[in-house]
Amino acid sequence: MRLCRVSEVPDDEGHRIDTVPPVSAFRQGTEFFCIDDTCTHQDYSLAGGWAEDGVVECALHCAKFSLRTGAVIAPPATAPVRVHRVAVVGEYLYAALPEDYLKRNGG
Ligand code: FES
Repeated sequence: MRLCRVSEVPDDEGHRIDTVPPVSAFRQGTEFFCIDDTCTHQDYSLAGGWAEDGVVECALHCAKFSLRTGAVIAPPATAPVRVHRVAVVGEYLYAALPEDYLKRNGG
């Protein structure tokens, strides 16, 4: 699924994609990542969190997740987030989302 333009993904936070469930794209240098957007602690969007060194920190209670594996790096979250394979093709970022993930606004 095409997520967004590469240029829409900032370097230190996420870019939320309006799928169901929502996912977020992240950039760390030249690497891109896609994870489920919803923090497993209390359903908060991870897109607004702080991303650094391959880890995103939730803005609400500071749980940390690996952008590579989805694993919890720091509490209070205890369950991992799902990660999705990504590919850059031209100016667009694509992700291999599960079939039951729906895109709301076409594309
Ligand atoms: S909602 Fe993310 S750490 Fe609490």
